Amino acid sequence: MSADLFAHKAGSYDQVKRRVDNVNNIATAIKEKVNFNPQMHIVDFGSGTGLLLEHIAPLVSKITAVDISESMNAQLEAKREQLPCELEIEPVNLVETGIDGEFDGVMSSMTFHHVENTRAIFDRLFTLIKPGGFIAIADLDTEDGSFHIEETGVYHTGFEREAIKGIARIAGFTDIEVSSASVVHKPTGDYPVFLLTGRKPLQA
Ligand SMILES: C[S@@+](CC[C@H](N)C(=O)[O-])C[C@H]1O[C@@H](n2cnc3c(N)ncnc32)[C@H](O)[C@@H]1O
Repeated sequence: MSADLFAHKAGSYDQVKRRVDNVNNIATAIKEKVNFNPQMHIVDFGSGTGLLLEHIAPLVSKITAVDISESMNAQLEAKREQLPCELEIEPVNLVETGIDGEFDGVMSSMTFHHVENTRAIFDRLFTLIKPGGFIAIADLDTEDGSFHIEETGVYHTGFEREAIKGIARIAGFTDIEVSSASVVHKPTGDYPVFLLTGRKPLQA
């Protein structure tokens, strides 16, 4: 995707109640599946304005927020002082550019459908995570294409659960589970959201 496909919506992003409700549900689902601890340094891939990481910040020591959108990163930057953990913002396209460090896990909300090559992003996440670390990826179940009405770089009309599980497995993750995390209610329909969790094996 090109540099800032979210520029037109970043300023009002957090004002859409169904979006905030959806990320609240995703955060609840992630907290049920992942045992966060105060020593952890984790990545939020496609962190946007920080709707997800705000929920997790009280539970970890540091979050590296990765997002290609300058305008979304600016919204997150404005929240830095209120966050109860250290925050680093990496303004990169994570498919094309890696980041330094080894992390206890990666979480992601509503971002994978913006990435053309799903295998490539799972491969990237695998390289970033410590052995034994987690992934927690939430995104849309397969939908009919009506979820997005604006061009924000959408490559997938959601994902079929068994298919995305298979890609995560091929990338090397184990203990993969997919559960239901949320439903986004829009005038055009109801859109279920899954949460995929998994681990990088200790002997990777
Ligand atoms: C729909 S928003 C979700 C934001 C946030 N996670 C949430 O749930 O509110 C998707 C975000 O992913 C970012 N993004 C998409 N592809 C990316 C990539 N390849 N590397 C880094 N960020 C990316 C976009 O810039 C955007 O901020």
